[in-house]
Amino acid sequence: MQADSEVVTGAGERDADLSALNTFGLRARAARLLRLGSADELVAALAVLPRGPRLVLGGGSNLVLTGDFPGTVLKVEIAGRRLLRAEPMAWIVEAGAGENWHDFVRWTLEQGWPGLENLSLIPGTVGAAPIQNIGAYGLELVDRFDSLDAVDLQSGERRVFGLADCAFGYRDSAFKRNPGKWLVTAVRFRLPRPWQAVTRYADVARELASLGVATPTALDISDAVIAIRRRKLPDPAEIGNAGSFFKNPVVEAAACARLLAAHPAMPHYPQPDGREKLAAGWLIEQAGWKGRDLGPVGCYERQALVLVNRGGAVGADVQRIADAIMAEVEARFGVRLEPEPVFV
Ligand code: EPU
Repeated sequence: MQADSEVVTGAGERDADLSALNTFGLRARAARLLRLGSADELVAALAVLPRGPRLVLGGGSNLVLTGDFPGTVLKVEIAGRRLLRAEPMAWIVEAGAGENWHDFVRWTLEQGWPGLENLSLIPGTVGAAPIQNIGAYGLELVDRFDSLDAVDLQSGERRVFGLADCAFGYRDSAFKRNPGKWLVTAVRFRLPRPWQAVTRYADVARELASLGVATPTALDISDAVIAIRRRKLPDPAEIGNAGSFFKNPVVEAAACARLLAAHPAMPHYPQPDGREKLAAGWLIEQAGWKGRDLGPVGCYERQALVLVNRGGAVGADVQRIADAIMAEVEARFGVRLEPEPVFV
């Protein structure tokens, strides 16, 4: 109801506080905040909204607000989830972009449409999931993706994106490379039948073994992933953070071999293209940053890849510790880390 009247007046909320709308809890304001309950509302709003910068916001869990936002924040609150088709080889399930990711995952499992269980408990919304091709514990969104609906924020044109159109990569997509161009309104997932467990990730295999589960169901895997994440990752409801703050760097095989000669215990994962993915968390821990603070932002004591807001931080505080960590890792290992969240 509220969203309807906001669109009719073309107004939304002025000088809106964004602190509660980003999981890092960074203090920032927006000139205007518009809550969108449907794709139709968005298209109507685009016709009357003033020009100027626009920021699409889902759960705000992959975002560093470096200051006040001078334009319009479009808060996606598009609900809805349904089974679209039961194909012989897959369930096709659709969800509105504003649905909470984890609630959606658990709902699919309860309905008997498994396949997303490895991505349990990832913060954020369904619409944000394809932007950075969320991934964890041996699975990425791209592995279960069917298609999505998006609206061009300049022209108001609606478009369906298939798998190839999205150009998914590791924590990357066509949308992440072209910020502010598209707003995702709904996502469809292709959940393979028959279901097959993905338990190759060491942490998951270990967790299931410790529970004595030999042939896990999808719910068992979801529960195992939830348990691992609760142990390692801070709950944004309790302590502000944006998940992994750095991507795991991918380096040439020769560079990896040189590092291994000096650090034989360094974790490294061969990639299909012959390069090697390194564990940023390990590099940061070796550089002595794990559990250390710089001002109000800290490097999390249980997973060095995560930066946490110890209270009252602004974007510049995050930038400062991120720069310091990157400089130290580069000085020690010659590896350049790249932040994972979007800086606004
Ligand atoms: N490690 C350390 N110290 C640390 C953290 C990690 O030595 O402080 C070592 C671990 O011992 C292990 C290796 O680094 O040998 C990898 O650690 P882990 O399995 O915890 O995963 P990660 O590479 O640190 C990635 C994703 C996470 C995802 C996990 C599980 C990225 C940037 N991060 O973390 O994703 O949950 O794998 O699949 O790819 C996120 O994107 O927000 C996120 C949390």
